[in-house]
Amino acid sequence: MIKDGPMAENDDSVALATEGARNENTLRFLKSGARGLYIGGRFVPSLSGKTFETVNPANERRLAMVAEGGEADIDAAVAAARKAFDRGPWPRMRPAERAKVLNRLADLVQAHAEELAEIDTLDSGLMITVTRAGAGGIADSLRDAASWANKVEGETYPTGPDNFSFSLREPLGVCGIIIPWNGPAVLAARKPGIALAVGNTVVLKPAEQTPLSALRLAELISESGFPEGVINIVTGFGVGAGSALANHRDVDAISFTGSASVGKEIVKASSENFKKVMLELGGKSPHIIFADVDLEKAVPNAAMGVFRNHGQMCFAGSRVFVQRDIYAEFAAEFARYAAAMKVASPWDTAASIGPLVSAAQHERVTGYVDLGVREGARLAAGGKRNDGKGYYVNPTVFCNVNNSMRIAREEIFGPVASLIAFDTEEDAIRQGNDTVYGLGSGIWTRDVSRAIRVARQLRAGNVWINGYGMRNEMAPFGGYKHSGIGREGGKYSVEFYSEMKSVFVTI
Ligand code: NAI
Ligand code: MG
Repeated sequence: MIKDGPMAENDDSVALATEGARNENTLRFLKSGARGLYIGGRFVPSLSGKTFETVNPANERRLAMVAEGGEADIDAAVAAARKAFDRGPWPRMRPAERAKVLNRLADLVQAHAEELAEIDTLDSGLMITVTRAGAGGIADSLRDAASWANKVEGETYPTGPDNFSFSLREPLGVCGIIIPWNGPAVLAARKPGIALAVGNTVVLKPAEQTPLSALRLAELISESGFPEGVINIVTGFGVGAGSALANHRDVDAISFTGSASVGKEIVKASSENFKKVMLELGGKSPHIIFADVDLEKAVPNAAMGVFRNHGQMCFAGSRVFVQRDIYAEFAAEFARYAAAMKVASPWDTAASIGPLVSAAQHERVTGYVDLGVREGARLAAGGKRNDGKGYYVNPTVFCNVNNSMRIAREEIFGPVASLIAFDTEEDAIRQGNDTVYGLGSGIWTRDVSRAIRVARQLRAGNVWINGYGMRNEMAPFGGYKHSGIGREGGKYSVEFYSEMKSVFVTI
């Protein structure tokens, strides 16, 4: 553990920065200074000695200094993961043994879920109600992942009498996992789950805005009994730690979640050694509301479809298409709903909108709000800048949006909804698909046949009917077009995180 020097905060500054947190373990963690990189089963400082600060977006105070990993640290982490894969016990263990270790981590995460939630709320500004629900689900995700350890299956193929032909599914190797800040603990624990169950080793790079819960998770990982080097966690920036991981010749696969522009860099970097790549990128997801719906249900659902997580969701239903017959009424109700949402501290359990993650996101989102006005959309709710401390933006509703406006084409990643009118089913499908993205989509109607017809024609990896944003971890999750490459979830993750070998025997 790294305890002293520039990484330790004094107690007063921690107390101010952590205002709202109650769990004594949260405060212990933040005061402990144990915020090095986790490499080869040990906490170590970065080789350069550099650190960076992470702030609390609700009060703009510094929460902690964290080790800034760079290329040399990524080299060390990849070497540890390589050694654990090539010579360590993990890929060769009986599946039940690997599952046992993952289940032990699940138990520890469950016991410490409240502090993971508090750490994430402090570091990301996400509502405590949201981080609590997220952290509460991590243990189940890990247990699900563990259950795949003994389902890494091959097949046999028919041959003539003198031969025997079968396939072996094997772990892939060293997997680099790069995650964003919009669900830090959940992503840090869930993304590596099935990769580990299959027998791979992992180097995880958390987002620079929210490194802390991954480091608390590293402490739990070190208590769970993973052989050294099986999971390594390197905090640092995208250009630096992230790019070094994406470019590394000894990394066999990269799973990346984040912006489409960085996704492009990841694909370019993968050509260095033909890494397998999974990309989970952004979206501009259409949520289509037909005139036959019950507005009392559809309005709050469509609103939460874009405003949950303060709009910081890859599948946010940020383009709400409303059939013209009900457009005026729907828009009025939607704007009323948005205006009534409580914007407050992320510790306020009655509130639903807290601060955005960073000053940069605040700039970006308020810039889009100004742009919407300039483009001629009608501001029906929100749009006000927050003058006090914290990166708050009120839920914002634009009406009379045209699908060709930039606010309807570019991912905003904040609490900004664009309401667009449509006439017919065909028109809704055409406009809904008129985007470079294809991650989420939603349909509200009482007509089952229409729902199925539209679902079939939407070019998106997820379609939600009469309810938006649910996730089944057994089902494939991913995007069409610029929203990504590949699918994760259950057996689809097993496929990604494995290689297949054909064995042909002459008898
Ligand atoms: P980002 O894509 O830059 O960051 C995501 C992760 O990638 C972070 O861990 C970051 O350190 C890493 N990274 C950045 N540049 C890299 C590089 N060259 N090589 C390897 N790794 C790199 O996203 P950012 O800047 O935090 O947010 C900007 C926009 O991206 C948002 O406004 C939103 O539109 C989109 N985004 C989408 C997310 C999603 O869930 N699909 C999540 C976060 C952001
Ligand atoms: Mg932070």
